Amino acid sequence: MVRKLFSYFIPINVYKKNSLVSKSIEVTWNNGELVLDSKSTNYSYGSLQRILRKGLRYIGFDRIRNFKSILVLGVAGGSVIKTLVDEIKFKGKITGVEIDSDIIAIANQYFQLNKIPNLEIVIDDAFEYVLKTKLNYDLIIIDIFQDTTMPSFLFEDFFIQRINALVNLNGFILFNTMVINQKQEERNQLYQSKFGGNYSLRMYPKVEIHNELFTIKKLA
Ligand SMILES: C[S@@+](CC[C@H](N)C(=O)[O-])C[C@H]1O[C@@H](n2cnc3c(N)ncnc32)[C@H](O)[C@@H]1O
Repeated sequence: MVRKLFSYFIPINVYKKNSLVSKSIEVTWNNGELVLDSKSTNYSYGSLQRILRKGLRYIGFDRIRNFKSILVLGVAGGSVIKTLVDEIKFKGKITGVEIDSDIIAIANQYFQLNKIPNLEIVIDDAFEYVLKTKLNYDLIIIDIFQDTTMPSFLFEDFFIQRINALVNLNGFILFNTMVINQKQEERNQLYQSKFGGNYSLRMYPKVEIHNELFTIKKLA
């Protein structure tokens, strides 16, 4: 395809829409790859997919393949879901929770998310969803951004406790954060300190410059 080829020289935008959640949603050919961006950052595919793939590698592809259920909070174009299905060959159930129905329509049109048989998408606020759900998960991936902003509920005790209650014993939480300033560094330090002896937390700083990943295992 010509646009894909040209995109090695210069990014080629193929779709753009204003968005209340993300300021704008853009689909762009970049270095031969179709990516989804918000106004100021990459949302799906591109660097974001590499970051979460690293997190999944830290947990272990073989271990993940044996999980039964995975919850993804923040779906956008669904690149981590593609990694789970296409690369890890995860066959269990994936539930994706996304606040923005527009972005799911774009994910279906440009990235064929609706062709994944073991994926269920729920349009809801992740905070509301974790409050309501009665289901448990072997892996919970938290990847919630509104452009470059992370909502503060992600770091609050109430949300942390709900997530901890939803993850199975021997299960994992994978949390993607962005750290650009001192305040956010301190926020992440405080976050770490909230997990006691029943959890094994690892922090991976500077995954692709500004991203800091946490893997948290709930010990049996
Ligand atoms: C970085 S993108 C997610 C990328 C995705 N995990 C992937 O692998 O391609 C962040 C997403 O979080 C969504 N989001 C922001 N606030 C949310 C909330 N409160 N509940 C659910 N989703 C939210 C945004 O609409 C956006 O689609």
